[in-house]
Amino acid sequence: MDSHQENGDTHHDNGAKKQRLTPLISDDEICDEFSHHSKQISRINNGSFGCCPKSIIKAQQEWQLRFLEQPDDFYFNTLKTSILNSRTLIQSLVKADHTDEISLVDNATTAAAIVLQHFGWKFNEGIYGKGDVILMLHYAYGAVKKSMEAYVSRAGGHVIEVELPFPVNSNDEIVSAFRKALMRGKEGGRRVRLAVIDHITSMPCVLIPIKELVKICREEGVEQVFVDAAHAIGCTSVDMKEIGADLYTSNLHKWFFCPPSVAFLYSKKSSCELHHPVVSHEYGNGLATESAWIGNRDYSPQLVVPSVLQFTDRFEGGIEGIMKRNHEAVVEMGKMLADAWDTHLGCPPEMCTSMIMVGLPACLGISSDSDTLKLRKHLRENFKVEVPIYFRPPKDGEVGCITGYARISHQVYNRIEDYHVFRDAINKLVVMAVTHQLRGEFHTGEDGSGSHAGGDAHAIALRMSSDMFSTCSTKSATGGWDKIRTPGRRLEPDPV
Ligand SMILES: Cc1ncc(COP(=O)(O)O)c(C=O)c1O
Repeated sequence: MDSHQENGDTHHDNGAKKQRLTPLISDDEICDEFSHHSKQISRINNGSFGCCPKSIIKAQQEWQLRFLEQPDDFYFNTLKTSILNSRTLIQSLVKADHTDEISLVDNATTAAAIVLQHFGWKFNEGIYGKGDVILMLHYAYGAVKKSMEAYVSRAGGHVIEVELPFPVNSNDEIVSAFRKALMRGKEGGRRVRLAVIDHITSMPCVLIPIKELVKICREEGVEQVFVDAAHAIGCTSVDMKEIGADLYTSNLHKWFFCPPSVAFLYSKKSSCELHHPVVSHEYGNGLATESAWIGNRDYSPQLVVPSVLQFTDRFEGGIEGIMKRNHEAVVEMGKMLADAWDTHLGCPPEMCTSMIMVGLPACLGISSDSDTLKLRKHLRENFKVEVPIYFRPPKDGEVGCITGYARISHQVYNRIEDYHVFRDAINKLVVMAVTHQLRGEFHTGEDGSGSHAGGDAHAIALRMSSDMFSTCSTKSATGGWDKIRTPGRRLEPDPV
């Protein structure tokens, strides 16, 4: 962790050696910046909702007050120039050519809607033929898949999903799966109009070799590439020139310390004319201008970008340094957990960022998406740990394999104790599952039939651990589990 240092230190920012004007942030100051976080909770899930330090919340409130003091003056003399200032800072950070290429929007969900609406119109207006292909990863974020359904499939686009392996051992496995799907897309001379590729998949979480995939798209004649990089900025290197995509979005509220919610959407100047789905006075003046006024609302999350850079500059190496240390720490914690549970990581360290997937003991018997929600709720309510869980169905012929993975995050506020709490919670659940098995307890199945533990020990463990979680969920006033389990009702995934 950073130690407090005096004025006059130097640090590196974008490769240039700069004179440090402010002291490095101390451990105590970091604690103070996040003192609004609940003290009882081990929060190892920065990935889902991000975090915002106290000094940035204060800066945001100052912007809100400036607006409320004299809204007319703020609107005419401050708002546009201040949003432009934020866009210019992001442009320089991500090495885009023009400020016009950077729009600020609410979140990655909005950015995806903007992009996919555009492609939907191409189908609707007959510019693309019905059945032309849009490629996306099978692990694309659930909301983005819905957006694809709403805008593209409905308009006649043929969506092909790239099946990726998990656990994954190398970039080559991803590249080869991508090539295979692309070839399928091009079968019969079909046109691939767009590839939507995650930079960091959400669940399971893996850093995708985006540069290589964009290059393949170019070589194979894919017309445009949109990168959904909701987690990327502050978590991995984001360089528009190196990546070479046409369209790219990253949230600023996940790993870049902005308050909820703001994202940037990069759109290469030569690529396409996008429009914000919320139409206001600036319609037709370019997406960046359209997005800077979508009616009367709170724009303060977009205005704190300069304050965020001041905050990150208090850390050794700025945002790059934060990223590097988070990565090292999350790998170390992932390995520690996998060792303690005798499991494995979901990918090699170089394929993860500030988040990593860690296998959970197979005896927990996670056997559905619903089980992951139950376990997540159980860990929150009974062990005070916030962590998302992933269900990985066994493949044909696989027996006794790991079916549950936790996605752990590391951000500057995390302490090693957070991960120890999680380790010990899982160890306790394992002991309970094993005790249930040894007792050979009788279980009544959902269909009313009974079975004895003398049969398939693994299957019994699955049911017992399932019972363990559901016992706990029925303790809570409004039981989510039983309701979700109602036949015919579709389980909606958590936002991860
Ligand atoms: C890959 C990906 N895309 C899109 C989103 C949506 O982000 P938001 O809810 O901030 O719009 C997420 C959220 O985690 C994500 O992981």
